[in-house]
Amino acid sequence: MRLSGRVATVARTRIHCGPDSLVQLNRFLVAERLDRGKIFILTDSETRRHCLPVLEAHSPDLKGCTILEIPSGESSKSLQSAEDLWMELVSAGADRNSLLICLGGGVVTDLGGFVAAGFKRGIASINVPTTILGQVDASIGGKTGVNLSKVKNQIGFFYPARGIFLFPGFLDTLPAAQLRSGFAEVIKAALIGDAMLWNRLLRKGAAEILSMPCAENFWLELIKKSVTQKSRIVRDDFLEKDKRKILNFGHTVGHALESLCGGHPGPELLHGDAVAAGMVAESFLSVKKCGLPEEDLSRITSFIRGGYDTSVFAREDIPALVELMGHDKKNRGGTIRFSLLKKPGVPAINVACDTDLIAEALLFVIQK
Ligand SMILES: NC(=O)c1ccc[n+]([C@@H]2O[C@H](COP(=O)([O-])OP(=O)(O)OC[C@H]3O[C@@H](n4cnc5c(N)ncnc54)[C@H](O)[C@@H]3O)[C@@H](O)[C@H]2O)c1
Repeated sequence: MRLSGRVATVARTRIHCGPDSLVQLNRFLVAERLDRGKIFILTDSETRRHCLPVLEAHSPDLKGCTILEIPSGESSKSLQSAEDLWMELVSAGADRNSLLICLGGGVVTDLGGFVAAGFKRGIASINVPTTILGQVDASIGGKTGVNLSKVKNQIGFFYPARGIFLFPGFLDTLPAAQLRSGFAEVIKAALIGDAMLWNRLLRKGAAEILSMPCAENFWLELIKKSVTQKSRIVRDDFLEKDKRKILNFGHTVGHALESLCGGHPGPELLHGDAVAAGMVAESFLSVKKCGLPEEDLSRITSFIRGGYDTSVFAREDIPALVELMGHDKKNRGGTIRFSLLKKPGVPAINVACDTDLIAEALLFVIQK
């Protein structure tokens, strides 16, 4: 597999991945005449410190652009942050030709895309994701949004970035916990559509993969395979009428866990950690509702437990979690619907599950 170059085009968005992707970014800005208006770079406090110097070193023309900064972390994905950024754009003289470059993880690209979509009815944005999760998932596919109170991603637009540039060099400073969080989306990509990739992951084991530095070509390959997989799905169903729902495997439970833990004191639960626990629960549901073989459930569970602590909630949290799943966008007519697996690589969508079975699946996750 080539480890550099254009990986895909989705909704007219070109995705470049590899060591030369920032060279591609420079060419793209000129070719698309995106440098004709004022350019803004949205960072969070961490990506300003770690990633902005790298971007400016590779793209000297971006030096001197107006930098917008949000505090790092999920709490910045709010309507208040969006309003603050719109105010900053107005006072810095942004107009309809302005460009917003989103330099950061999923929080920056989700919020930045949302801000770009809403500002003067839409200005161009570019995603330069700096986390594994951002590179394999959040920056791709045009979903932008913010959380409403404690409930994830309730307000948002489908608004594709004009270009997406995945530069592996940003990952050198990524904390181990963020690497682990992003890897959950690689596992998901494999389970929903790439059985060969899943077998490859199984052969190595989660702990060994997570101990490998991001600079290894193995990671670049995982990123490219995951991006290719997501792009294919999004290209066929950009507005999530149907096929795109398969990307939600692990996320119905995962989002409920994030919402629950967002309301608890203590450290923030990372998105990927929540999705990892969610994939165990939803694999259990897959056995009951879609005929996923028991041995696959057992392989998935032990693989995930090799890299993740899935005991992120207690038995007494189960009713609240089921209640939170009722808010999920995939539900219709009062039933809770899941995207599940028939077998690794073969997904199923719109599978209705009753609350007793969901509670059983959640109990399975925290069993020793
Ligand atoms: N739009 C989508 O399709 C989609 C898909 C999946 C997830 N998401 C969203 O993505 C968000 C999670 O994204 P995330 O995991 O990237 O979180 P994040 O954006 O909060 O980044 C994680 C942490 O890493 C720091 N960081 C980022 N890049 C760094 C680097 N190179 N070096 C050092 N530190 C760095 C950030 O400051 C932050 O503290 C969630 O809000 C989730 O809902 C969106």
